[in-house]
Amino acid sequence: EPRVTVTTLRKMKCEGEKIVMLTAYDASFAKVLDTQGVEVILVGDSLGMVIQGHETTVPVTMDDMVYHTRAVTKTSQRALVIGDLPFMSYTSPELALRNSARLMQESGAHMVKLEGGAPQVATVRQLAHHGVPVCAHLGLQPQSVHKLGGYRVQGRDEAVAKQMLDDAIALQEAGADMLVLECVPVALAAQITQALEIPTIGIGAGRDCDGQVLVLHDMLGISPRAPKFSQDFIGAGATIPQAVAAYVQAVKAGTFPADQHCFF
Ligand code: KIV
Ligand code: NA
Repeated sequence: EPRVTVTTLRKMKCEGEKIVMLTAYDASFAKVLDTQGVEVILVGDSLGMVIQGHETTVPVTMDDMVYHTRAVTKTSQRALVIGDLPFMSYTSPELALRNSARLMQESGAHMVKLEGGAPQVATVRQLAHHGVPVCAHLGLQPQSVHKLGGYRVQGRDEAVAKQMLDDAIALQEAGADMLVLECVPVALAAQITQALEIPTIGIGAGRDCDGQVLVLHDMLGISPRAPKFSQDFIGAGATIPQAVAAYVQAVKAGTFPADQHCFF
């Protein structure tokens, strides 16, 4: 099967086929996801929490991301692989270019991801200009947790919601290829999804997004504190490949996320 590309993802949005994304951090899990039909594998800086045992993603370094992304691209053959840019690795367009080059050249990533709205527009434009596919990330931005004072839903306030929509459009105009929306009320995520030509991928953002993503360890039921928006797909007695297949099927069918995984 041919590799999933940005063109594939745009076509899926146009045709209303849900995009299935999951995180992975090593070669073995990447192989399972790739085999079970996950279209996009995110090597997330969530590895700081689920692999390294930190309380936040803040301590994760570029070297960590290069190491794990390289392992994932070794075994994935069909999925598009996104390497996450960690905290402080994209504070200028030049730094973002240098670090994106590491993820693509040393690790084989097909796209990079960064958090932020208006302040990142110039960086996204530079990356796009130099041929780096970019996934943006709005709503809850975990790298800013110490500034936010905790993990909670973003965009219930009308002014914040308006800003998020404006930021989403500005990021698309700058050349972003995809947008993750994290912990956003269902109606706002739906509005942003409709306003954009690029696909939106929700995590705690309702079922109207063009696709869904979860942290692998959350959906396998082995996270110490899985968030409200996650579901344990391993259930009673499923194997890991069966759990991944059930997640793929639930996202495709629109049965995940259900109301209890959403913010209204
Ligand atoms: O790091 C990560 O896993 C992420 C997802 C939660 C979107 O950014
Ligand atoms: Na991340």
